[in-house]
Amino acid sequence: MRKIKTICSALVLALSVMSCSGGDDSPSDTTAPPTGGGTTVTNPTYSANIKAIIDGNCVSCHGPGGENSDHPLQTYEQVSARASDIKERIGKPVGDPLKMPKGGSLSQANIDLINKWIANGMPN
Ligand code: HEC
Repeated sequence: MRKIKTICSALVLALSVMSCSGGDDSPSDTTAPPTGGGTTVTNPTYSANIKAIIDGNCVSCHGPGGENSDHPLQTYEQVSARASDIKERIGKPVGDPLKMPKGGSLSQANIDLINKWIANGMPN
């Protein structure tokens, strides 16, 4: 009887510890797409998820007339061809001179989503 009680309180303790972790107060980018970034999307595609993030956060510079128009990120081909560079740049710590978007950051949810898309083989 005593043993059962001990096991029970250990379980309750474990559960309450688990429910308290997992908070994530990462800053959110102001232009998060309406399709929603986030870890709930299990199979992100370029057209449904990734394009909106890149359009909202990167194309102002990586497009016509932008600071880095030499490296446009406007099509599936352009983005997928640079995937490993993109992954590296968006994953830099905030404040790193190589961090993209330059001078800011994507939300952690959108970083996770792009990484997941790359890991899944970049479906269009
Ligand atoms: C405010 C302008 C600006 C924004 C916004 C911006 N970039 Fe850049 N980006 C630059 C400039 C300028 C360079 C070249 C200097 C350097 O390499 O750091 C660059 C370089 C890069 C490079 C390496 C060179 C290349 O083109 O392959 C990648 C990859 C990149 N950016 C990805 C992104 C991604 C992804 C976003 C959006 C999440 C983004 N950038 C948003 C200005 C910007």
